Amino acid sequence: MKGIILAGGSGTRLHPLTKITSKQLLPVYDKPMIYYPLQTLLDAGITEILIIVAPDRAGDFLRLLGSGKEFGAKFTYEIQDRPEGLAQAFIIGKTFIGEDDVTMILGDNIFVGDEVFLRDAIRSFKGGARVFAKEVPDPERFGVVEFDAQMHALTIEEKPRKPKSNFAVTGLYIYDNAVVARSEALKPSQRGELEITDLNNLYLRDGMLDVRTYTGFWLDTGTFDTLLDAGIKVREYKQRRAG
Ligand code: G1P
Repeated sequence: MKGIILAGGSGTRLHPLTKITSKQLLPVYDKPMIYYPLQTLLDAGITEILIIVAPDRAGDFLRLLGSGKEFGAKFTYEIQDRPEGLAQAFIIGKTFIGEDDVTMILGDNIFVGDEVFLRDAIRSFKGGARVFAKEVPDPERFGVVEFDAQMHALTIEEKPRKPKSNFAVTGLYIYDNAVVARSEALKPSQRGELEITDLNNLYLRDGMLDVRTYTGFWLDTGTFDTLLDAGIKVREYKQRRAG
């Protein structure tokens, strides 16, 4: 199993915080944001990790993270020239992925509180695709899963105006090696991006998408409020664990 951290994009929604560096390098309590998704991969025993970054920010990531030796891992870097969608990561990462399965985590997603569950979900992966849903108060900001009465996923919609449930698809995705070919066959959406939701719906249509609910704490830190919330939550969690 290989790992990808997607940390591209210019983070314009967080200006002026992101005027001189990437969103994924901003502090979340006591660490740069990207340390959290990185730890999620390391906890699962993934040590070959591709970090995909925006062209003008690559130097910052290299200075901070280096070769990966300090983390007991090996880091590879690739540039995403323009933010043209999450699924583009598998095209950029084609050579890196090679013949392996791959877990991708978004560089601005923080999962704390149920590390064992995620570790086991990654380690037990056998094929197809596996994603994680979490109940949120504002599903319209995310990919949203519609479930039937038995909690089987029916569809996923990207940022629907009228969400069919409160379950957001989190930014942690596990795929078999077919993800590369499937991504290459995707057409850009109306907003000009290769959508991870389209990719997930392809696996769903083929009966190969396993949607699990995540019971730990999850935040996508895309706004000033969620960035601040993430810092506060991480502090609470660490203090609880220490005390
Ligand atoms: C992306 C995905 C969305 C997912 C979210 C998780 O949205 O498109 O399906 O729910 O990440 O963080 P973005 O944050 O890029 O708008």
